[in-house]
Amino acid sequence: MKVYFSKFISGVEEVVEDFLTKQKTEILHIEDGVVIYKSDKNLNDINQIDFFNSNLILLYSFKNIKPNLKNLTKIALNVSSKASFLKKIKLNISNKREGFKVISILENNPKQIDIRTLSKIENKILKLKTLYLDIKKPKVELWIIIRRSGIGMVGLKKITKPKLKIKREKGTIRYELAAILSVLSDPKKNDVVLDPFAGSGVIPIHRASFFPFEKIIAAEGLEIDVKNLKQKIRKSRKRIDVQLSNALDMNLLKDGSVSTIITDPPWGEFKKHTKISEFYKKMLFEFCRVLKQKGKIVLLLSASIEFEEIVKNNFQDKLKILKKYNILVSGKKAIIYKITKI
Ligand SMILES: C[S@@+](CC[C@H](N)C(=O)[O-])C[C@H]1O[C@@H](n2cnc3c(N)ncnc32)[C@H](O)[C@@H]1O
Repeated sequence: MKVYFSKFISGVEEVVEDFLTKQKTEILHIEDGVVIYKSDKNLNDINQIDFFNSNLILLYSFKNIKPNLKNLTKIALNVSSKASFLKKIKLNISNKREGFKVISILENNPKQIDIRTLSKIENKILKLKTLYLDIKKPKVELWIIIRRSGIGMVGLKKITKPKLKIKREKGTIRYELAAILSVLSDPKKNDVVLDPFAGSGVIPIHRASFFPFEKIIAAEGLEIDVKNLKQKIRKSRKRIDVQLSNALDMNLLKDGSVSTIITDPPWGEFKKHTKISEFYKKMLFEFCRVLKQKGKIVLLLSASIEFEEIVKNNFQDKLKILKKYNILVSGKKAIIYKITKI
């Protein structure tokens, strides 16, 4: 069993814990966007867990460390002087010659340790003849971290190709977040999935790539975006129907024809004079129409929207909020809602 350290979107600890427990993984520690766990999987398999955005093989860990540069340097010196240091690295790299780089991180931000300590640790690693210094395109990274919580860690990261290659455009949802939304929808093979605000299609492409389904519909209201969406979906080679339609009046969809809605609606005013609360009210009416009974909605919304009020005042007998997760999206407070049609 190896010990891993993985980063994910802060706020969804419960989802990650649930997922890892089902994978027969022993969780050693979980906090704000970070989990340390024991697993018999290799790093390549761990790298395929798509809601993790960084995975390290943990070599050393420390508790109750004050997060400052002095302690970051201390950890670097401490581990590199251990007899086990090179052995642990060697055990976890391939026999091929690969470039490496040392990365130091203080409270989630890169923080350079002093050059003498850095050279010392690099020179030590260079004793392993299979590794050479490559600060531009390393294949292996040694991370030295102190988190705000006082946890210090030294781990190895291997740079691998992402499983799903989608070039991220401005305004599109992060791939790791789309993965969390998909998982939260409790995917099943007979699902008819709809994203009525598909934009560039990250959510439907992710859903189609990693879970079984009967049908996936990606709908978008802007003609120009639909062209782009069609291109993206063609490239992804996934079986997804694309529709140009207004999410407030999806006349191409019959009543009760959809089992799952996973979506990221606009956070601001869509058209002049349309109040966002009115927009969401109309949206939920239309969602209730197309959803079958016990159908699911997974919604990503800005935390500033009085969404729960809208549900309480207008949909009390139609929709039930099962769960909510407070997260940050590009530094803005957001909420993921998991809802069911009663
Ligand atoms: C927040 S973006 C979704 C981004 C998408 N998840 C992605 O990763 O590309 C919201 C999308 O909803 C579309 N939209 C806004 N109002 C709409 C409406 N009434 N009907 C359908 N689409 C709409 C916008 O054009 C935009 O592409």
